[in-house]
Amino acid sequence: MEQVTRRSFVTMAGMPAALAAQSAQPRPANSKVVLALIGAGGRGTTLATNLAQVENAEFKYVCEVNDQKGAAIIKKLEEIRGLKPQRVVDMRRVFDDKDVDGVVVATPEHWHALSTVWACQAGKDVYVEKCPTISIWEGRKLIEAAAKYKRVVQVGYENRSGPYAATARDYIKSGKLGKIRLVKVYNLLPGGGAFKEEPTGPVPPGVDWDLFQGPAPERPFSQTRLQRSWGKYWDYGGGELSDDASHQLDLARMALGDPPHPKSVYCTGGRYAYNDNRETPDMQVITYDYGDYVMTCECGTNQPYMKKFPNEVRTGTKWPYWPQSSCRIEIYGSERLMFLGRHGCGWQVFETDGKIVDQDKGYFPDKWHQPNFVDCIRSRKSPNADIAITHYSASLVHLGNTSYRVGKRHLEFDGTTERFKDPAANALLKPAYRKQYRIPEEV
Ligand SMILES: NC(=O)c1ccc[n+]([C@@H]2O[C@H](COP(=O)([O-])OP(=O)(O)OC[C@H]3O[C@@H](n4cnc5c(N)ncnc54)[C@H](O)[C@@H]3O)[C@@H](O)[C@H]2O)c1
Repeated sequence: MEQVTRRSFVTMAGMPAALAAQSAQPRPANSKVVLALIGAGGRGTTLATNLAQVENAEFKYVCEVNDQKGAAIIKKLEEIRGLKPQRVVDMRRVFDDKDVDGVVVATPEHWHALSTVWACQAGKDVYVEKCPTISIWEGRKLIEAAAKYKRVVQVGYENRSGPYAATARDYIKSGKLGKIRLVKVYNLLPGGGAFKEEPTGPVPPGVDWDLFQGPAPERPFSQTRLQRSWGKYWDYGGGELSDDASHQLDLARMALGDPPHPKSVYCTGGRYAYNDNRETPDMQVITYDYGDYVMTCECGTNQPYMKKFPNEVRTGTKWPYWPQSSCRIEIYGSERLMFLGRHGCGWQVFETDGKIVDQDKGYFPDKWHQPNFVDCIRSRKSPNADIAITHYSASLVHLGNTSYRVGKRHLEFDGTTERFKDPAANALLKPAYRKQYRIPEEV
């Protein structure tokens, strides 16, 4: 494991805004862009593969805290571009390198906000996976950091880059659905079975457990936390809601013209399906009050008759069978009903008797979303899933989970101050970070 150098700490103390802004000038369309991957798990591997195929985009680093991960993507990147990225363990090594233009953060979610703040302070642009934060306060800090250091912060809500998402938004804006009264967001997954927690024990060789935990509370090592099951612990993420459901919540917000925060939230649910020791619920039903319409989100993981959109729906001309589609959104207007699907599946508008009056078929949007990040590094334009907009989508996750965690209570929320009336809910606005991994109040 490499040591954290003194220089790293100097950088982390905060680069003056003016210095970071020097590199915020537009540059030619095909100019070289140097990237680093942080977190080489499943999603990081896909992102790096896609980005390395954008003209003149290359990876100088792959940063990973687990020696068992990363070899495959390093090999693949070398095959694609003929350059072998350096393997590093501590992301601060990447931020110290002035050659790096942008970083791709695909760690577990507890690291997303801090790594994005550090990257902005070091003058790097950021592609940060969803959910970009684990609390509402973090989202505000990311907006402030991106603005202060003039950084591109693209969130991995790729549906925003699908042309069909834009046509859905324009269709609703045109008034053809009538007045919107109800929006139903679904995330009813077939289910992955019970969660088996491995016993705690010594940290195995090749794993930097301190860096994995980062800002999260200190816990004994367990493989369950290290591997993809981290999402079942509140320390590292927001359960199913911050996983798949957050994509549908974000797409629904985009289709509705990106409304700001709702006035109140109520979440009920529990661990009904699995008698295991996950912390996060396996069923949640949430109601968001937007004043002149209501949005609901039904999020569960044990509905074997439901199905995520299959490949031929994501990439072809086939339409889904909507009632059993896990990741759909239903938008009820005073005149018509729209079904909208994630994963590029498209949208259809229905009148009475099942008559389809309008539709637009989509395509899986990764092929636009990652190149959009590189384009924005060069052009300095705002990215399609700018943190300034998508913070409000991530907040729907945090609002729902906050209501659940304070005892399934209805919570009023002041969108201007981003605070609840309820003190117990306010206590969950910001995580208690470990000392050496704190996001400062002033980023
Ligand atoms: N946009 C999408 O469609 C999509 C799809 C899948 C996953 N995701 C998101 O991508 C993120 C990663 O998910 P995943 O499925 O790849 O998880 P994963 O557990 O497979 O990968 C995360 C990796 O990050 C590494 N890591 C942890 N802390 C680190 C640190 N400080 N520095 C460097 N590496 C570190 C872990 O060792 C692990 O290899 C999650 O936020 C997830 O929600 C998004």
